[in-house]
Amino acid sequence: MTSAEIPAPYGSSGQQPGPAKRIRTHHLQQIKDSGGRFAMLTAYEQYAAQIFDEAGVEVLLVGDSAANNVYGHATTLPITLDEMIPLCRAVSNGAKRSFVVADLPFGSYEVSPAQAIESSVRMMKEGLVSAVKMEGGSFYAGHVRAMVAAGIPVMAHVGFTPQSEHALGGYRIQGKGDAGQAVIDDAVALAEAGAFCVLMEMVPADVAAAVDRAVPVPTIGIGAGNATTGQVLVWQDMMGLRNGKSPRFVKQYADLRGVMSAAAAAYAQDVRDGTFPGPEHSF
Ligand code: KIV
Repeated sequence: MTSAEIPAPYGSSGQQPGPAKRIRTHHLQQIKDSGGRFAMLTAYEQYAAQIFDEAGVEVLLVGDSAANNVYGHATTLPITLDEMIPLCRAVSNGAKRSFVVADLPFGSYEVSPAQAIESSVRMMKEGLVSAVKMEGGSFYAGHVRAMVAAGIPVMAHVGFTPQSEHALGGYRIQGKGDAGQAVIDDAVALAEAGAFCVLMEMVPADVAAAVDRAVPVPTIGIGAGNATTGQVLVWQDMMGLRNGKSPRFVKQYADLRGVMSAAAAAYAQDVRDGTFPGPEHSF
């Protein structure tokens, strides 16, 4: 397969007329095989999905980080499948080209492969996503095997897994020193079970690089250095929407909080001054 077959971003010279073509798992594999890289951002609603899709971001993640970034929880643990599905549907409807993946939330897959399949089917049937992401190591290889056999593309998530933050003792880098081999073993077991991609969160860059060499499938990093096939960030972090200190692995590309705050203050002042609405806004 040649790179020309990867669906072109909107407005690019290679774009075909007509509806945008959806990126699929084999395109992500092709990017890894050709030594390329791809970008992934979280999205939780239609406008962010549209904007990132049109900007050429290859993968959108309806992350369970919606627990923090949409619902205002302190951790990702409280969000439910029923709360995730409407967000998935909005993102899937908003994105025309990007590959859309959704997190299986805490409590929706751990019990058995059958539970993981049932939850994933809801994500794909009701949330309209193309794949699910599941946190956890080699223990979940059997789940992945069963899900893949059922026709569900699975993105594995190893290293720091936020749903286990209480078990892991908080937000901590995983795979330091001798523990690095366990991260590599997890990734290999999940890839061998059929995961189409392995995401790593907060692991040393050399461990992530070793994982990328050890598995044939694409890898994605967040706080995992620069040797993975893809990178992912939470959009509210990289656009400067959220307040507070960002993790070290976040690069801030915009100051949306500043832009929105100034716009809201200007609007409120115009209303108090009686300058909005003007004649041009009135019937
Ligand atoms: O839910 C999420 O945003 C994630 C990323 C941190 C990868 O899983």
